[in-house]
Amino acid sequence: MRYETLYNTSTHSFGQSVRRLTLPKIGFGTWKIGGGSSADLKADPVSMTALRSALDVGYTHFDTAEIYANGHSEELLGRAVRDSKVEREALFITSKVTPSHLQYDQVLRACENSLSHLQMDYIDLYLIHWPQTGMKLKDTFRGLNKLMRDGKVKHLGVSNFSIKLLKEAQEQSETPIITNQVPYSLSDRSYVKNGMLEYCQQNDILLTAYSPIDEGRLRSTKVLDEIAKAHNATAYQIALAWLVSQPRVITIPMSANPKHIAENFQAAEIQLSDEEIARLTDQ
Ligand SMILES: NC(=O)c1ccc[n+]([C@@H]2O[C@H](COP(=O)([O-])OP(=O)(O)OC[C@H]3O[C@@H](n4cnc5c(N)ncnc54)[C@H](OP(=O)(O)O)[C@@H]3O)[C@@H](O)[C@H]2O)c1
Repeated sequence: MRYETLYNTSTHSFGQSVRRLTLPKIGFGTWKIGGGSSADLKADPVSMTALRSALDVGYTHFDTAEIYANGHSEELLGRAVRDSKVEREALFITSKVTPSHLQYDQVLRACENSLSHLQMDYIDLYLIHWPQTGMKLKDTFRGLNKLMRDGKVKHLGVSNFSIKLLKEAQEQSETPIITNQVPYSLSDRSYVKNGMLEYCQQNDILLTAYSPIDEGRLRSTKVLDEIAKAHNATAYQIALAWLVSQPRVITIPMSANPKHIAENFQAAEIQLSDEEIARLTDQ
C-alpha cells in the first residue's frame, strides 16, 4: 500500500508533541453502508460482510459520517472493528458533522453521538461535511477546537469547501486543517479547475477524493481500456491508480462487493508511467 505523509500536523497551539501523519492512499468509503439517508437494518448482513472484507484485506482508513444511514453506518463500522482482530490504534477513522449541527453546542453533541455510535473514545479526523449558508465558522471551530483539546478528535478537516472557506477554516482552527474532502475523478475535475488541488499541494493539505469512480458509473474510454489491459487491471483500478499517482491526493472508494473491495485496495500498487498518467489526464 502506498501512503501520503503530512508534516505540518505539529503546530498545536496547546502544546501537543510534534508528529507527522501518514495515511494510506486508498481508504474505504461507507456511504450506503447501513442504509442511505435512513438506516436499513435488512442490509446489515451485506454491510457487515463489506466492512469485514475491507478490514481483512487491510484497509486502515475508513470514512463515515453522522448523516450516513442516520448514524447506522458508524454503528456498523464500530461493530466490525470490535469483531475484528485489528487494534483501534492501527486504524484511522474519519467522521463528519452535518451542516445543521454547526453551532458550538451542536458540534459537541454531534461528536458525542458519533463516538457513541462507533463505541470509540476518539475519532481520528473530524470534518465539517459541507458548508452551510450563513454558518459562523468562528462558533463552529470553538467547538471543534475544544474537541481537539479534549482528545475526542485527533485532526480537523473540511469537506466541499471552496478555497475562500478553506482559508477561513484555517484561520479559525487552532490546529492544521489536514484535508478538504471533495469530488474528484477522471470525469470530475471541478476542484482542479477551481485551484483547490494546487492549493492543497502547496499548503501540505490532503485532497481526499470522494466518488472517485463516479458512484460506480465510470465511463469507459479507449485510453482507459488500453491502459487497463496493459496492467492486467480493471478500468476502475486504473481510475483509482491515476488519482493516487498525484501528490497529496488520497481517496476513499466505496463498495459492498468483496471482489471490488480487494481490487480497489490493490489499485494503490499499480505504478502508472508518466506517459500513461498524461494520457489519462489529457483524455
Ligand atoms: N464528503 C462528501 O460530501 C461525500 C460525498 C460522497 C461520498 N463521500 C465519501 O466517498 C465515498 C466514495 O464515494 P461514493 O460512494 O459516492 O462513490 P464511488 O466510491 O465513486 O462509487 C461507489 C460505487 O462504485 C461501485 N464500485 C466500487 N468499486 C468498484 C469496482 N472495483 N468495480 C466496479 N464497481 C465498483 C460500487 O458498487 P459495488 O458495491 O457493486 O462494488 C458502488 O456502487 C463514500 O462512500 C463516502 O464515504 C463523501
